[in-house]
Amino acid sequence: MFDRLPLTYIEPLFRPPSEARSLIFQVTNGCSWNRCTYCEMYTDPQKKFRPRPEAELLAEIRRCAAQGLEPRRVFLADGDALVLSMRRLRNILGEIKSSLPAVTRVSSYCLPSNLKNKSDDDLAELVELGLKLIYVGAESGDDEVLQSVGKGETLASTAAALRRARRAGLRTSVMILNGLGGRAMSQRHALASARLANETQPDYLATLVLTFYRGRERFEAGFANRFEELDTVGLCREMKTFIDALELDSTIFRSDHASNHMVLRGVLGRDKRRLLERIDESILYFGEHPEFESGNSGY
Ligand SMILES: C[S@@+](CC[C@H](N)C(=O)[O-])C[C@H]1O[C@@H](n2cnc3c(N)ncnc32)[C@H](O)[C@@H]1O
Ligand code: SF4
Repeated sequence: MFDRLPLTYIEPLFRPPSEARSLIFQVTNGCSWNRCTYCEMYTDPQKKFRPRPEAELLAEIRRCAAQGLEPRRVFLADGDALVLSMRRLRNILGEIKSSLPAVTRVSSYCLPSNLKNKSDDDLAELVELGLKLIYVGAESGDDEVLQSVGKGETLASTAAALRRARRAGLRTSVMILNGLGGRAMSQRHALASARLANETQPDYLATLVLTFYRGRERFEAGFANRFEELDTVGLCREMKTFIDALELDSTIFRSDHASNHMVLRGVLGRDKRRLLERIDESILYFGEHPEFESGNSGY
């Protein structure tokens, strides 16, 4: 329909799988933290963190409207758009609201620490302006795992941010990284991650498998070079411990990212038994087929 969308991006550009049909505005370049040792998303030199010049961004939103775009959903990239000041977020969300009135949902990635400099009233105002959903890379509920990977967050800081977001009316989508603690911390990583989910009852919960494109030296150094990667059966066992410990009321659960060895989808608690049966089948299958060993090299 459109020869050329009136959008400019500094590549690479990432978005959650569920934002595949959203219009994406790159409101910052890169990630303001950028120190998680497993994350290679914004490590290229051109991805150095910088808020997008505001006038340029607002003009881009208006150009989309002028070209007749009528998106329903908008995703604000890059890695933690909510680090922006309230002043900027107000202007961006206000422009989206007035120029693109068909939008019913604006979402973005969010680090728990992004919410620290926003009051409860600020969060309520962002919801009022159209921000409806945040994707939080909790990755683990275990403080030692989080410290080893340089996340800069704890179970307490992540849970507090998720609770505040929900109280303000934001929907929350939480990501957990299967295998992040390696063999030594696998069970405690699973149990603490389940605890985080139980305490915060996210609307959406997803697990991804730890995967590297560019080598793992930086990551392994965080574990004093004693990190032992889980094999596929180990990853499935960790998932079993995690799902088994979940006590969720109505969370949409997905483990269907390309990095996962088994696809799991369901509503938790309703589908817990079915998901556990599926994991047991996978453990049996991968145990009998060692040729499907993980060896992840890309996400
Ligand atoms: C942009 S970040 C999430 C939002 C925000 N920056 C945060 O960390 O809370 C996207 C997610 O991709 C996942 N990810 C990053 N590096 C990964 C890797 N090496 N293997 C698998 N998943 C990875 C993590 O779950 C991470 O939270
Ligand atoms: S996981 Fe999130 S916070 Fe950590 S470096 Fe990647 S984008 Fe930044």
